[in-house]
Amino acid sequence: MKSLVLAGGSGTRLRPITHTSAKQLVPVGNKPVLFYGLEAIAAAGITDVGIVVGDTAAEVEEAVGDGSRFGIKVTYIRQEAPLGLAHAVLIARDFLGDDDFLMYLGDNFIVGGVTSVVREFQADRPDARVLLTRVPDPSRFGVAELDADGRVVRLEEKPAHPKSELALVGVYLFTSAIHDAVREIKPSGRGELEITDAIQWLIDRRLDVRTTTITGYWKDTGDVEDMLEANRTVLEGLTPDVLGTVDDASQIVGRVRVEEGAVVRGSRIVGPVVVGAGTVVTDSYIGPFTSVSDNCRIHDSEIEFSIVLSDASITGVHRLEASLIGRTVQVTPAPRVRSAHRLVLGDYSKVQIAS
Ligand code: TTP
Repeated sequence: MKSLVLAGGSGTRLRPITHTSAKQLVPVGNKPVLFYGLEAIAAAGITDVGIVVGDTAAEVEEAVGDGSRFGIKVTYIRQEAPLGLAHAVLIARDFLGDDDFLMYLGDNFIVGGVTSVVREFQADRPDARVLLTRVPDPSRFGVAELDADGRVVRLEEKPAHPKSELALVGVYLFTSAIHDAVREIKPSGRGELEITDAIQWLIDRRLDVRTTTITGYWKDTGDVEDMLEANRTVLEGLTPDVLGTVDDASQIVGRVRVEEGAVVRGSRIVGPVVVGAGTVVTDSYIGPFTSVSDNCRIHDSEIEFSIVLSDASITGVHRLEASLIGRTVQVTPAPRVRSAHRLVLGDYSKVQIAS
């Protein structure tokens, strides 16, 4: 069995971060979201993994390499444009051959792994098996309508009037039957070859499409709120440890991990929080559910429920909340001009100013 991991796409909902970075590499709990998926695939015993990449190919390839650190062997498959999830299957045909495969969306975050569903699929080998989960807001997702035996009758992409509260999770198991489907379907209204249409094609031809409803935590980290939520979940299970240096004037409360080479001086950190290697925190407060990546500088500031990417610096800011701060970003107070904000922001940035 092989795996096909989708790490291309345009990531419009995470702009401006995705103007310069792959969304699958945004860290949750200081580890790229993609790595959790690769670890889950390896844990399920799958070693032959194709990763579909787009404009951010170089960055993904640099981060993942040949896959040996995960115990897998990676083949990169270049998708010239984000033409849809089924298009990714179409262009991966040479890699996949006629083998069964696990398709995994590289920005999805699933607690509990995929081992049991892979075993289930290998035991009964339907033409396809899709993962579902109950959500309060199904119209944001692909939604499945099931018959009394739990087989899929209909799939709808982001329906205005959902027929169930069962959303498709970004993990699918396919036999080679899916290749006929992705060849036959036509692009949707948004110009993409939709995997839901390909699966519906199988259903319409009476092929056996079964479902597994998961109850564990799942998040499609498509936007900032989702990222912060996934980060919160990871940090809840954080193993606290102080490998860096914390001075006597600092206070560490709850689950806090201070990585090697990090320095905390005159600060209060209330976990769960992770402070990355080489980061220096001085005269600041870092509050719950915050991940600060490597080599950041936080001075005379307050921050909570946020993700800070590497090499960022935050100085004299009171206070930041629910924020996603990109790499090498500098956040500073404006010079003391009353009622004036001075901003240098990339296209599609979102800023909320208290004034
Ligand atoms: P989506 O989140 O559905 O799409 P997107 O990445 O284009 O994001 P947005 O909606 O914010 O513009 O994609 C799910 C995963 O599949 C994600 O990891 C990107 C990947 N993907 C591809 O690799 N190729 C594609 O053609 C598409 C559409 C997505």
